[in-house]
Amino acid sequence: MQVGIDKIHFATSHLYVDMTELARQRGQAPDKFLIGIGQSQMAVIPPSQDLVTLAANAAYPMLTAEDAAAIDLVVVGTESGIDHSKASAIYVARLLGLNRRCRTIEMKEACYAGTAGVQLASDHVRVHPDKKALVIGADVARYGLNTPGEPTQGGGAVAMLISANPRVLAIDTESTVLSQDVMDFWRPPYRTEALVDGKYSSNIYIDYFQDVFKGYLEQTGTSANAFDALIFHLPYTKMGLKALRSALPMVSETQQQRWIAHFEASRKLNRLVGNLYTGSLYLSLLSLLIADPNLKAGDRLGLFSYGSGAEGEFYGATLQADYQQGIDLGLPQRLARRQRVDVSAYEDCFNGQLAWQPANQTLPTHNDPHRFILTGQKDQQRQYLDRCN
Ligand code: COA
Repeated sequence: MQVGIDKIHFATSHLYVDMTELARQRGQAPDKFLIGIGQSQMAVIPPSQDLVTLAANAAYPMLTAEDAAAIDLVVVGTESGIDHSKASAIYVARLLGLNRRCRTIEMKEACYAGTAGVQLASDHVRVHPDKKALVIGADVARYGLNTPGEPTQGGGAVAMLISANPRVLAIDTESTVLSQDVMDFWRPPYRTEALVDGKYSSNIYIDYFQDVFKGYLEQTGTSANAFDALIFHLPYTKMGLKALRSALPMVSETQQQRWIAHFEASRKLNRLVGNLYTGSLYLSLLSLLIADPNLKAGDRLGLFSYGSGAEGEFYGATLQADYQQGIDLGLPQRLARRQRVDVSAYEDCFNGQLAWQPANQTLPTHNDPHRFILTGQKDQQRQYLDRCN
């Protein structure tokens, strides 16, 4: 029996900032952001969206009543937690109207946590093939205004339904992982922005990719040429390109050209959204599936997941014949319809997030078109609204 991703859907905000404009405002050459970082646009997350609303907005359009009845596990991978104790997955399950006989948990290990969720959910379905699991990687990537990490911000959520006989991607049972205590990126509880040693984290990312990719090939006796495409965690798209380049000497020239062409498709949508931490690898997967005309059923995909701190995993998966039926085909049009905001409006959104203080707060929500929104805080409880209820 095969198990893997049956459906995959994405949500971000309705706002973005143009990277050429941001570069000019920051006194940088636009090509540094467009080529050196590899980003064209960056999602601007308004105060009325947080990881919970992004997660619910990503999941609801793809779930049928039959799916909802079969889901008995909800995992939200995030590093944008809104509570030290309560799992965001419980809010998400409530907003989505899911079955009460359901495990609802939040997972954390920086950007790796989405993959931890996918692997846990796949193993769960292998044991209980009549059940389904909902896995969501949801984050708001925040480094701070006027910081080197600023052009690698963004936000959004990727929701994946994990099932037996999946329509999109069958996930192998074998994978190679690496986990070591590394201080490349972290966020103490008193901060809303990450602390990062940016250059160090980029080097560790490459080291981890090389380690788990080569480890996987040795462990499984697989040739690098067996993979039709490699997909990467993309904190910014140049990062994935660097990792890809580090692997090119391992394959033939023809295969190198194929990998590069697939990579360009796999970073197309990430270029328009920016970093979404736990969901970035899976937005890249979605980008490949939507934008690449050269994919075919049976293609072997290699996925590299990385989370600072640091944990990495490489695993293989096989593209399924009906994959077009399980993917978010309307996404490019939704991204094209977003509203461009200037740098000042982006900064207002960045600074206007719900404050970490006990007082009641009301957030501006009138311009947010999404179904699920955060309206504020009352009696120290976040207030979520489902506009369809
Ligand atoms: N035209 C084209 N490229 C240009 C350029 C220009 N005018 N000016 C600079 N660049 C290139 C640089 O050569 C560099 O490319 P390289 O990485 O291939 O050498 C790239 O743009 C970035 O420039 P750099 O000076 O290194 O940027 P920075 O010091 O401002 O920081 C990061 C870049 C990625 C380290 C920073 O954004 C960051 O800390 N991000 C968060 C951490 C992160 O995402 N880590 C990844 C692992 S999870």
